[in-house]
Amino acid sequence: MKNTVSVFKNAKNGGKKVTMLTAYDYTTAQLEDAAGVDAILVGDSLGMVMLGYENTLSVTMEDMIHHSAAVARGAKKAFVVTDMPFMSYQTSVYDAVVNAGRLIKEGHADAVKLEGGVKFKEHIRAIVDASIPVMGHIGMTPQSVNAFGGFKVQGKSIEEAKRLIDDAKAVEEAGAFAVTLECVPAALAEYVTEMLSIPTIGIGAGKDCDGQVLVYQDMLGMYSDFTPKFVKRFANIGEEMKNGFENYIKEVNDGSFPAKEHTFKIDDDAMKAVTEDK
Ligand code: KIV
Repeated sequence: MKNTVSVFKNAKNGGKKVTMLTAYDYTTAQLEDAAGVDAILVGDSLGMVMLGYENTLSVTMEDMIHHSAAVARGAKKAFVVTDMPFMSYQTSVYDAVVNAGRLIKEGHADAVKLEGGVKFKEHIRAIVDASIPVMGHIGMTPQSVNAFGGFKVQGKSIEEAKRLIDDAKAVEEAGAFAVTLECVPAALAEYVTEMLSIPTIGIGAGKDCDGQVLVYQDMLGMYSDFTPKFVKRFANIGEEMKNGFENYIKEVNDGSFPAKEHTFKIDDDAMKAVTEDK
């Protein structure tokens, strides 16, 4: 049975924490689904970890739809949340609803996520009114990297902490089913988690959130351009992949691959007839 927003609601009602990981393709989604992850985020982080951009600002609706549809095909049980990319909702409430609808209809997402609190309350409410579940995202919101002056922890000063609390309330009041807290001091994240009736999903926000999310390339040691402090490496797949690639190159060069068991046979008579014909 496919997971629904109930997985998030249960976490708030004393159930187990929500586990969420990013995925951007069919194979990874299948593996995460088989491992039993509750939800998959098709994050616009794909701009960095899949497409090699410096940040998420160049990601388009077409990119998100393409990757979301692939993930949706692989996620038989996990709930799929797809990010609304930069400038797909900031421009107007109308654009927000139309583009959220495209992520559901063409990207086959179960829900959408967008960055921002107070400023985007109306946008979130309009998408929710169109029967599309919305996950909020506050704190360090990567689409505002230029406004923040870099990827910086948010909520350390009294002013910033109060702003974060207002944003959290706005997202909840707008009808979002959950909110991501990114790069927020742990004590503030705990306070917001206790304050809200919707679950908080943390990334760099400490252990007291109702769930956790990570970019899978970070937690598997596959992306080395930038590793945030909050990432724990659960496996070293990047090194394993590099070893595999090196072994392949070596064996092709020394002739040990492909071996007999990797090749196809042709009947001797058929081969003889072909060569004699020449
Ligand atoms: O795009 C993404 O992967 C995200 C996570 C960092 C929460 O939004």
